[in-house]
Amino acid sequence: MSTFRDDGAAALEWVASYLERVREYPVLSQVEPGEIRAALPASPPEEPEPFAAVLHDLDAVLMPGMTHSQNPRWFAYFSITGSEPGILAELLIAGLNQLGILWRTSPALQELEEVTLDWLAQLLGLPEGLHGHIEDTASTSTLVALAAARSARPDRRTVVCSEHAHSSVDKAAKLLELELRKMPVDGAFRLRPELLHLDGACAVVATIGTTASASVDPVPEVADRCEAEGVWLHIDAAYAGAAAVCPELRAHFAGWERADSVVVNPHKWLGVPLDCSTLWTRRPDALRETFSLVPEYLRVGPEVASLSEYTEVLGRRFRALKLWAVLRCYGRLGLQERIREHVRLAALFEGWVRDEPGWEVVAPRHFSLVCFRREGSDEDNERLLERVDASGEVFLSHARLGDRYALRLAIGNFRTTEDDVRLAWDVLRREASRL
Ligand SMILES: Cc1ncc(COP(=O)(O)O)c(C=O)c1O
Repeated sequence: MSTFRDDGAAALEWVASYLERVREYPVLSQVEPGEIRAALPASPPEEPEPFAAVLHDLDAVLMPGMTHSQNPRWFAYFSITGSEPGILAELLIAGLNQLGILWRTSPALQELEEVTLDWLAQLLGLPEGLHGHIEDTASTSTLVALAAARSARPDRRTVVCSEHAHSSVDKAAKLLELELRKMPVDGAFRLRPELLHLDGACAVVATIGTTASASVDPVPEVADRCEAEGVWLHIDAAYAGAAAVCPELRAHFAGWERADSVVVNPHKWLGVPLDCSTLWTRRPDALRETFSLVPEYLRVGPEVASLSEYTEVLGRRFRALKLWAVLRCYGRLGLQERIREHVRLAALFEGWVRDEPGWEVVAPRHFSLVCFRREGSDEDNERLLERVDASGEVFLSHARLGDRYALRLAIGNFRTTEDDVRLAWDVLRREASRL
């Protein structure tokens, strides 16, 4: 009979060797729909099985159905990293299994969450004194912020954002039964403040680092308008927020200190394994008024307010532990080093595209995302992307910018090297020549 220690050692060995070999797997899973399901038993086992059987089937059955976000050649959507300290912290989180429903059910969970959010705010140059908590995803963070904005101005029922805001804003508006007013963007895919129409608006969502092109909305001008008209300003910096750790990139974040709420996803570009989205607000009372509902069985007298009073979920995982582990094991300098390297690699790739006849950069680059295309039709570029991704060597994605189809190369994995980016460029040119 194996023990927890034996199984644990085997699982850790599995992860360590997976990370060593991760470049060898096709980045994009090559299976057909239903293939993994068909390889799994239709019913659960009657008798207990050893943990080794789980590890065995992970290799034998599930691995072909993995698209490997840990592969440094993943350049699609936004590239992410489950870093080693974050992975180990996840083990501790599961081992401790803290039940974060009230301060008293885990004072360490709540107080570490408050402290790590304060640390991260300092690293990103956000103002002092913000109230922060962790959500699962930016979609939830934005939903929570917009719910508070709606409660703060119940007479107004409209959310305003640019046409390039993330679809999580559309979803939040739909769930909250708010009208969504999408504003046109300028030639650099930024919200146009001179067109901002705030009649009936309870909130504006401005994005620093949009999903399609990582464009940056003009936050100072938007903040002026929001302040003048009493409208909640929510900043979506889910991807790019991490870049504020580098002082030389801070100019892109001008004005975000004036926001009522800000979301950044440390699970995107800060090495924290999924899921970890950080939401700060300078109006915690509005969140508490919106969400606080303490039923009798959770009533405990004048203890500290628990984090569940600031969001729509009751229980929370000990996510702060993995954020804490990453912030400690990399430190400010380690995080800056990685972000700078990704921005350098993106600039290098952008230069290769610019210098190559027949290729074109199609959006200004501010961070580590390059939007580009090959000469020819949208359909040609679509076919090129299909071929590149089907190769399994690298994985890129696309966006529509105005009326044009664009290829996107997003760098953000901590293990990505210049050779990986060079390979992406080689594969792109090779497949383009075969079209
Ligand atoms: C700018 C932006 N906001 C929000 C989101 C949604 O993130 P999540 O998956 O954490 O909900 C994304 C996802 O890529 C994004 O790019």
